Amino acid sequence: MLGKKVPFVTFRTRVRDESIEGPNPFRWDDKTSDDFFKGKKVVLFSLPGAFTPTCSTYQLPDFEKLFDDFKAEGVDEIYCISVNDAFVMNAWAKAQGVDKVKVIPDGSGEFTRKMGMLVAKDNLGFGMRSWRYGAVVTDGIVEQWFEEDGFSDNCETDPYGVSSPQNILENLKASKAKAA
Ligand code: BEZ
Repeated sequence: MLGKKVPFVTFRTRVRDESIEGPNPFRWDDKTSDDFFKGKKVVLFSLPGAFTPTCSTYQLPDFEKLFDDFKAEGVDEIYCISVNDAFVMNAWAKAQGVDKVKVIPDGSGEFTRKMGMLVAKDNLGFGMRSWRYGAVVTDGIVEQWFEEDGFSDNCETDPYGVSSPQNILENLKASKAKAA
């Protein structure tokens, strides 16, 4: 994906809207890839599923903790994508107390498939999900790529290393130092 443009898709997000009465004041809010990526430097990370252990214990909370360090490296936003719907992604962000990292629901898997990162996880009863990866994306172009080893369907393990926030941050700092 290095040097390529992220695919153009529409994400079906759900947002709170206080003008809606009743117990469920939320509405659909469609966002496109341009809304998330155009004119911004972002870190994107994608993982196999909301609420899963590694994602909930390390990857998402650590990105949240290191948000200001990423900001200091010129990153405007950090996005967490998963092949889960908006209800699940919002519930996960709330449960995790995350508000700096933005979650993006790729419920149909269209973005993940077009990124070439869709894998079967039927061995876990998950269906099609994202392989774990991270990327630094500037104005929609993938500038740095952090894909975990062993891309495969029904993988017995869940590799987690290169797409950690610590590794991506280190690489951002190194590339900035090199350019200086
Ligand atoms: C984990 O994040 O720990 C995990 C991800 C996918 C399947 C099982 C566990």
